[in-house]
Amino acid sequence: MKHIFAKKSLKRLLEGMKDDNRLKRVLGPVTLTSLGVGAIIGAGIFVATGAAAKAVAGPALMVSYALAGVTCIFAALCYAEFASMAPVAGSAYTYAYTTMGELFAWIIGWDLVLEYAVGSATVANGWSGYFQSVLAKLGISLPEYLQKAHFAYDNGHFIATNSWVNLPAILVVIGVTLILIKGISESARFNAAMVFLKVAVVLFVIFVGAFYIHPANYLPFAPFGWTGISFFGRHMYGQVNAGGDPVGMIAGSAIIFFAYIGFDSVSTHAEEAINPKRDIPIGIIASLVICTVLYIAVVAVLTGMVPFAQLSKDAAVADAFKQAGLPWAEFIIAAAGVAGITSVLLVMMLSGPRVFLAMARDGLIPARFFADVHPKFRTPWKSTIAISVFVCVLAGLLPIDALLHLTNIGTLFAFVMVCAAVLIMRRLDPHIERPFRCPWVPLVPVLGIGSCLLLMTSLPAANWWRLIVWLILGLVIYFSYGRKHSFLGKELRGEKITDRPVIHVEGH
Ligand code: ALA
Repeated sequence: MKHIFAKKSLKRLLEGMKDDNRLKRVLGPVTLTSLGVGAIIGAGIFVATGAAAKAVAGPALMVSYALAGVTCIFAALCYAEFASMAPVAGSAYTYAYTTMGELFAWIIGWDLVLEYAVGSATVANGWSGYFQSVLAKLGISLPEYLQKAHFAYDNGHFIATNSWVNLPAILVVIGVTLILIKGISESARFNAAMVFLKVAVVLFVIFVGAFYIHPANYLPFAPFGWTGISFFGRHMYGQVNAGGDPVGMIAGSAIIFFAYIGFDSVSTHAEEAINPKRDIPIGIIASLVICTVLYIAVVAVLTGMVPFAQLSKDAAVADAFKQAGLPWAEFIIAAAGVAGITSVLLVMMLSGPRVFLAMARDGLIPARFFADVHPKFRTPWKSTIAISVFVCVLAGLLPIDALLHLTNIGTLFAFVMVCAAVLIMRRLDPHIERPFRCPWVPLVPVLGIGSCLLLMTSLPAANWWRLIVWLILGLVIYFSYGRKHSFLGKELRGEKITDRPVIHVEGH
């Protein structure tokens, strides 16, 4: 039983890096920052902003974005410390294995799969909204039964809609899966093009939209109040909506937090960085700061252009330009939105299988299946397909708001664990080389934990239960499979390991 708390030593982790079978080291600081921005700017700003400003925070959503950005910076500093110490694929899962032991590593790995899988479904849903608005501009519309998710989320309840499935969301997931299985060695170049396009559109929105701001739209600035905190469904502080869910500036922050997800994926590229110790922290922090500034400016423009109550829920940025009498701009933004959101989906769907791969390398999930590398394409194709089937089901049936909330709570939970892991590691192993040190420890990790918990408690209560059910399911799998098959556990028990996989995965 004690093996469930066994830790993989950093030394061992780094030794494992000496094999020839590692990913290629090809990424420098600019590419890493651009990968970060590519993974961050997507459905959150293009889609979720509208609904959050309209029904949860009003123009004060600008402050919500600042709060979520600061929360992420605390977590990012902690991620950066770990990523510089242990520059291997697997991100927070790997960090937890070295600091808190196998059981916690499992919990966090399982949670990251939730983040990436449910996050991918959310992004696919947002993609579908923008894609359909481009189609509408071309005079094309899908039959009603294929336009959106089968369920809608109404004041805490799922209700069936007229639609069977969200067909575009499913199709884009299948398309991205095929690309990922084939392996995209030119994906860094593709990503750079997408980042350029996205940032160009965001700057366009800011600089053109600024001419259409009516300061009167900023009043009232915080129509839903400055707080909106609940805990397990119990309203603690601030206003609630008709369904009893918290609304206000902090509640808004908990929702649009989604827009920042992705910076952590920079750390999953540690194994491919030329100088991971310096460049991973630069990549994480630079991409986050750039996005925070852009996001606050976009919200300032949007809520200045259109009275918050009239913002669109599905394609807010594009729609604001339509309302301002610039339909050509609406088309450009929607088309670039589709392209930009696709690139986020690529990164998210790439990250999930990589966490599975890292877990399979350790024997916690069946290595023969999840670490199986396609003989021709050299990609973890079975993990990719397994996750993608799950994503298709979620994206086809569930509405964007429910998916987004669940992604947020899962990610915030992972951040809490990473901040805690920094504190633990500083105590357990104070002298180990830390090429990047998180500043002001313990203040920054403690503020990180506190601000993530604040946002978690400000999400509608049902999400806590969903997270708990997911984690329990994970624990059942761990205790019935992972614990017995863990390579570290087997070594400690003196058992022979026969199923350790040989890993050789193509970089991207
Ligand atoms: N931050 C990413 C997005 O907004 C996940 O789409």
